[in-house]
Amino acid sequence: MKTKKIVKLAPSILTADFGHLAEQIAAADRGGADYIHLDVMDGCFVPNISFGPLLVKAVRGMTTLPLDVHLMITDPDRYLQDFAGAGADIITVHTEATLHLHRTLQLITALGCKAGVALNPATSVEAIHEVLPLLDQVLVMTVNPGFGSQRFIETMTAKIRRMARLMDELCPLADLQVDGGIHPDNIADVVDSGANVIVVGSSVFNDKGTPAANLALLREHLLESV
Ligand code: DX5
Ligand code: ZN
Repeated sequence: MKTKKIVKLAPSILTADFGHLAEQIAAADRGGADYIHLDVMDGCFVPNISFGPLLVKAVRGMTTLPLDVHLMITDPDRYLQDFAGAGADIITVHTEATLHLHRTLQLITALGCKAGVALNPATSVEAIHEVLPLLDQVLVMTVNPGFGSQRFIETMTAKIRRMARLMDELCPLADLQVDGGIHPDNIADVVDSGANVIVVGSSVFNDKGTPAANLALLREHLLESV
């Protein structure tokens, strides 16, 4: 029988209060976050600009949790060393953003980081078939990347299932991450579909509850997964 992987929650700081970032991160840490997810946007690969290695380095000083760096940037090879040096533990690049994905993944691993690949909603699971054995993490985007607080694209549930099947065969130890529009009402579904690392932005950092209370609510709904 296949053993179920432990489900990890990875709060994205994109909707956090940057004026009180250290407190927000400490609150997520105390609330049981497993990673801190950092969304790096360059205004080119995605229509938004967020932050770069300087902020990752600052966050490194605020928590001992693994830093899960999601690079939404064109030609990421140019900056891998900077993000590794800033303290990234996991670096995820988009397959659509690099010409030589295999080389990019080798670079990430050589820098001592775990290597991940993200797929936009329009990209087929087959696009990364050949590199699956090199990966520590696959990220199936469940919104088009660029902004927090977007609506989950329902057809991605079937894609998560297809990716999970492929990963069982080719990289059974790698994590399957999902990112975008995950909230208490759909978290059990994405986990049932095969995801085990769940990025949660606006459902953790919002004005409805504290990060700890919001994480507890997500965990409670996770119990509904089979
Ligand atoms: C989207 C980012 C996500 C996003 C998640 O481009 O990669 O990490 O901030 O935020 P929510 O959970 O609010 O969709
Ligand atoms: Zn992300």
